[in-house]
Amino acid sequence: MTLVSIAQVSYLVAAVLFILSLAGLARQSTARRGNLLGMAGMAIAILATVALALDQSERPVGVTAALIVGVLLIGALVGTWRARSVEMTQMPELIAILHSFVGAAAVLIGFNSYLTEGHDAMHLVEVFLGVFIGAVTFTGSIVAFLKLSARMKSAPLTLPGRHALNLAGLVASVALGAWFIASPSIWPLLLMTVIALAIGVHLVAAIGGGDMPVVVSMLNSYSGWAAAAAGFMLGNDLLIVVGALVGSSGAILSYIMCKAMNRQFLSVILGGFGGEGAAAPSGAAAVEGTHTEVSVAETVELLQSARSVVIAPGYGMAVAKAQYPVAELVARLRSRGVKVRFAVHPVAGRLPGHMNVLLAEARVPYDIVLELDEINDDFAETDVVLVIGANDTVNPAALEDPHSPIAGMPVLQVWQAGRVVVFKRSMATGYAGVQNPLFFRDNTSMLFGDAKTQVEAIVAAMPATEPVSA
Ligand code: TAP
Repeated sequence: MTLVSIAQVSYLVAAVLFILSLAGLARQSTARRGNLLGMAGMAIAILATVALALDQSERPVGVTAALIVGVLLIGALVGTWRARSVEMTQMPELIAILHSFVGAAAVLIGFNSYLTEGHDAMHLVEVFLGVFIGAVTFTGSIVAFLKLSARMKSAPLTLPGRHALNLAGLVASVALGAWFIASPSIWPLLLMTVIALAIGVHLVAAIGGGDMPVVVSMLNSYSGWAAAAAGFMLGNDLLIVVGALVGSSGAILSYIMCKAMNRQFLSVILGGFGGEGAAAPSGAAAVEGTHTEVSVAETVELLQSARSVVIAPGYGMAVAKAQYPVAELVARLRSRGVKVRFAVHPVAGRLPGHMNVLLAEARVPYDIVLELDEINDDFAETDVVLVIGANDTVNPAALEDPHSPIAGMPVLQVWQAGRVVVFKRSMATGYAGVQNPLFFRDNTSMLFGDAKTQVEAIVAAMPATEPVSA
């Protein structure tokens, strides 16, 4: 068996491991295994690629090996440092910047491939498409990173005729593509790269804060297609398979998120939502009234007399790192025979699955963590709902006020429960910048303060087990 065929078989094994990894990641209980399978696949893929590169090296093998070890070391060091230091709440921006690397890699591979290889039409199409997708992904991801890390305003940039601008960029790129294939030269490729870089900036700059999660997963999808295009250019089957897996799973995730926010995929991509919320949106009903405050002691009493409790966590729970005392509170309530469940909104927090990861980290049993669809009908039979650091995801205006910027977004209908206690620090708005009428309802009380401090106080005031009396 030659080294090339061993590498091909290794690639096939790695591809199967990646597919099994994705299947594992689909469920919380198997996610750990999914990650391990993905890591094993990646290790096999890297080993096979390095072995091939050394075998086919045109330089002395020692030089190639030193170069590979050098870049692997730099990458591993930076990657380990970032992965250890990143906060869960900064994950979306880390993902965004990582996507930009994939985009940049596709552009560089495209230019390298054009300059060093033959110019048959098929290859030219691969190069042109790869560089285009890569360049859009590169700058689009950088803008997403800047917006998510608040280094750039999250309001949408709405240039006059912005759709026409994007369309003009696209048409110009197609024309340059025709020129490139008809008479190959570096100029149409360079010009298109500049246009594609500008399209990337403009496309993401036009998208407002509320739609950013969809944009990140859309860029994830683009980065997959960019990798697949790089795979075609390099003649690397594994890269094509992996790119297609990332590309299609990113597209599916974007679709699921659009559904969760009741947004049309196309209108998200074309931008213009989410930023207007911060300045009171015109047409949306004014939210007024008085809110009621509740103390820790009263909340403890409320919980002690409840038979069923639902906890709706949100971004504030993540910021406060309140998942650990929340898990302890759940354990105590369950030990008293209270039925406790979690209601997880698909876009609660700042990235898909954010709440699920935090709750799993705090060892909350998976079977009491329910999705929006699974629990929304149960609120009417729930005694107490604890909204812990969530806001937009429990906003009744989404259903009741057609002019609200989040109108039509499915929300957790917590207000149907007997009593609602909202844990947050102030009356400030959530991510979408819209006020929440839930806070002013008769059956809602506000428990102000840091979510972790307040939940810890509740846990401290609640004995571990209740002597069961008749
Ligand atoms: P938000 O609507 O952002 O509300 C979070 C609330 O937590 C805030 O109102 C804040 O109020 C409170 N909070 C912050 N720090 C706190 C602390 N230390 N202790 C207690 N409360 C604290 O969160 P959500 O309900 O999870 O909704 C998510 C929003 O983010 C949606 O609009 C969604 O579209 C958007 N988004 C989601 C994603 C994904 S994929 N999940 C990605 C990007 C954006 P105070 O300041 O008064 O404390």
